[in-house]
Amino acid sequence: MKKLRAGIIGVGFIGAVHIEQLRRLGNVEAAALTDALDPKGKAEAFSVPAAYTDYKEMIDRETLDSIHICTPNSTHFEIAMYALEKGVNVICEKPMTCTVEEAKQLTAKAKEKGLVNAINFNCRFYPLVYQIREMVRAGELGNIYTIHGSYLQDWLYLDTDYSWRLEPHLSGASRAFSDIGSHWLDLVEFVTGLKAVEVLADFAVFHKTRRKPLKPVDTYSGMALRPEDYEEVPINTEDYATVLFHFDNGAHGCCNISQVFAGRKNQIVAAIGGSKCAVHWDSENSNALWVGRRETMNGEIVKDPSILKPGTAQITSYPGGHVEGFPDTFKQNFKKIYAAIACGKPVCGEYATFDDGLREMIFCEKVVQSAKENRWVKI
Ligand SMILES: NC(=O)c1ccc[n+]([C@@H]2O[C@H](COP(=O)([O-])OP(=O)(O)OC[C@H]3O[C@@H](n4cnc5c(N)ncnc54)[C@H](O)[C@@H]3O)[C@@H](O)[C@H]2O)c1
Repeated sequence: MKKLRAGIIGVGFIGAVHIEQLRRLGNVEAAALTDALDPKGKAEAFSVPAAYTDYKEMIDRETLDSIHICTPNSTHFEIAMYALEKGVNVICEKPMTCTVEEAKQLTAKAKEKGLVNAINFNCRFYPLVYQIREMVRAGELGNIYTIHGSYLQDWLYLDTDYSWRLEPHLSGASRAFSDIGSHWLDLVEFVTGLKAVEVLADFAVFHKTRRKPLKPVDTYSGMALRPEDYEEVPINTEDYATVLFHFDNGAHGCCNISQVFAGRKNQIVAAIGGSKCAVHWDSENSNALWVGRRETMNGEIVKDPSILKPGTAQITSYPGGHVEGFPDTFKQNFKKIYAAIACGKPVCGEYATFDDGLREMIFCEKVVQSAKENRWVKI
């Protein structure tokens, strides 16, 4: 079998996950990587044969089937545009870009070139998230009345917690909603097949200033710096967002998004109430799905491919009792994306495309506008 050759750009927190999970596919090789910091050391650590500091040089020199963009948000546009121009398929981390205009240009370019274009909304591929989708499609939830939930983290809890994500020129105009709220929204729209059509958002910035380290620090790396190692900087993107939604079938929804909620490291909750039953999924117990009923006992579906819907079984790697979680979602997403790359066409394989990435960018823009203007905004 011919191995497809992938180039990874940016090997910090998430680029490492991309390399590890690509290798589980069997037909894809991490052929080269690019990083602004110590690419040779990273290539050695991950046994990747070629290392570059400049992504253009990597794309020009290596014969690649795909690139994975795992760098800060502000770089996604120029890297994706360069790769598409050179005829290379693109898998880009979320959020797609920093502006709607950039996302529109990339979407048009990918269509013009006929290349595979994907955004890594990996949460679609938790087995029991996918199971909700299969249940909705089989009519088991009935009419959907409400969709609510949250995405909570605490890695920016202290005013000494710092990341490039706090700087709008690197991250974009929205932070908490764009960074993690976008995952929540993509998840609920994916499983229900509904689209949010208007939003009302409320933002809060609890740390109006933060102490920025004078040395670079990696995402989630924790800190052991002294007071003189910091400078105080103003913060103008949200730590927290509550968003109300109206969906295109008349359903109502709401989510709470926070990066300063102590003790919740990375918890996603999605709860969907329908006319036949309700479901509740929590990423901290991701191998179980609660099903609520009025007329009989409530139940819990466990992750066991032998009892899940056939579609769900196909995106599940291990038998019941063997936990699958965050890294597995990348494997399943990449499996679908690389099936499209292998057949040489941007066929829809349920992975998020640039169209979905553009929708999230438009959505974030409207959420920011709603929070600023304190009113409902149509999508
Ligand atoms: N899908 C998910 O669950 C998920 C999770 C985390 C992050 N992300 C996304 O992944 C991206 C990266 O986030 P992260 O947390 O890994 O950040 P990070 O800061 O941990 O890593 C970024 C890496 O990119 C490198 N880099 C920066 N500019 C570069 C350039 N021009 N060329 C080459 N390398 C460059 C840095 O040296 C660093 O190694 C972001 O867009 C983020 O939103 C997605």
